[in-house]
Amino acid sequence: MRLPTRVGRCGNQTGSAWSGWTVLALAAVGGAVALAAPMRAADQIDVTVDISRPGATIHRNIFGQFAEHLGTGIYEGVWVGRDSIIPNTRGIRNDVVAALKALRVPNVRWPGGCFADEYHWRKGVGRERAVSLNPNWGGVTEPNTFGTHEFMDFVSQIGSEAFVSINVGSGTPQEAAEWLEYLTAAPATSLGKERGDNGHPAPYKVAYLGIGNESWDCGGNMSPEYYLSQLKIYSRFVRNFNPAQQEKDRMLKIAVGPGGSGPRWTEWTDTIMKAWQARTWSYDYDGLSLHTYTVVKWPPAHASVGFGEAEYAEILKKTLEMDAIIAEHSAIMDKYDPEKKVALVVDEWGGWYAPLPGSNPGFLVQQNSLRDAVLAALNLNIFARHADRVRMANIAQMVNVLQAMILTDQAKMLLTPTYHVFRMYVPFQDATFLPVAYDAGWYTKGSIALPGIDVIAAKDGAGTLWLALTSVDPNRPATIAVRLAGARAVTASGETLTAEAVDSVNTFEAPNAVTPKPVTAKVQDDRLVLTLEPKSVTVVSVR
Ligand code: AHR
Repeated sequence: MRLPTRVGRCGNQTGSAWSGWTVLALAAVGGAVALAAPMRAADQIDVTVDISRPGATIHRNIFGQFAEHLGTGIYEGVWVGRDSIIPNTRGIRNDVVAALKALRVPNVRWPGGCFADEYHWRKGVGRERAVSLNPNWGGVTEPNTFGTHEFMDFVSQIGSEAFVSINVGSGTPQEAAEWLEYLTAAPATSLGKERGDNGHPAPYKVAYLGIGNESWDCGGNMSPEYYLSQLKIYSRFVRNFNPAQQEKDRMLKIAVGPGGSGPRWTEWTDTIMKAWQARTWSYDYDGLSLHTYTVVKWPPAHASVGFGEAEYAEILKKTLEMDAIIAEHSAIMDKYDPEKKVALVVDEWGGWYAPLPGSNPGFLVQQNSLRDAVLAALNLNIFARHADRVRMANIAQMVNVLQAMILTDQAKMLLTPTYHVFRMYVPFQDATFLPVAYDAGWYTKGSIALPGIDVIAAKDGAGTLWLALTSVDPNRPATIAVRLAGARAVTASGETLTAEAVDSVNTFEAPNAVTPKPVTAKVQDDRLVLTLEPKSVTVVSVR
């Protein structure tokens, strides 16, 4: 069994097109710590933060969102239409926009998912919108009333960036190229003029381009070699013409990457990365996607509500596999790209459970519990520890689908425990990772053993130190004593998120059952001391 000792680290990095990513070299911090005796109630855990050894920038894009035309993720969740009695701005609901603004969502991936490889953009522009079908998700009709302009308006209302996924599975390079021309060309071209006639004369900014989705499965069941030949064609011909995105703010292209761990997926990564290393002037890509959900078996059978401690432990054990999966693919990427120019983009992740009883199974409706808050924090911490390679991630999905930030029921809206974690972690966006060392102790349930706590630290642009501390153990509090190597802490305060039970949820009747509370640390000698409640996520700033 691996020791649950955590030593934060971020590998070397030497340059990339990904903005906000500082060039730093930090050798891996080694050293094993002997396994402590099993933790008793509120045993003290010493945490040391080494502020003299800054690591990589935790890219704000790892807090990205994913919004697919799936169930009520878009229709009702985001789009209610201009004539709705639900307060809206140009058809986009105001309550959802206000809630998302507080998360400082860095980017939104759209229109899918599997939907993207059947999406034909022309149906979603202009006055007359074709009604089509959404065969992937419930076989429902797709009114196309939320199309290109509505998506770009939504992204602008929440202050985010567009991550557009183009149709490689059932579309053509010409269709995708024309979509990008429509989006980004100055009005001199017919497509640019058409965009102006449809209400937006200025070229849109498309920050990120996803070239296909799960092309090894719902995106067309392609072999790595077949996908690679498509990737080269789309990378070459799907251009961004926005004059403001030529020299700087260049659109970054993201290739379809693996869907898990093991030979099938390492072969995929190897094929795409080998071709990247051998790239010529005529094709290039900046990111490799990774899709990894927390699902114990397929089809998803774990309930999202009304479960006990055994299911809590099982799901968290599964989610911690993310670390090894990222390490597995990063090692292959390092082989072809030692300078880490290509980002690993975890653009679908999160808990995937059984559909809520009574819901349309194609709509992927699930509740969101305190367990999901802990799951989200553990994954964000993993991404932060791999910040040198993981520079973008998109939780699935933003509203009403899978591990959502927000649930709606007609005019009602609630914020999920996962939302609160994303809001508490805002200070980590573009902050500099700092190594931490501690002995996490064990939390055990049956045959499952998990680290009792999980901690990351970072320094923001203003020089403030932030700590995020997750208590995995649902039964015992943990007293944490934080020492800053190279500085003296005076005070620390922030918020903590916990609730009565591992499956506590927010409902429309009780929307604040799981909500953050203020927390303050005491200073004892030269240490900050705070007690983590069982099954909690805490974020504090240190002054
Ligand atoms: O997020 C739901 C689905 O999961 C997406 O459409 C697909 O890409 C993945 O399999």
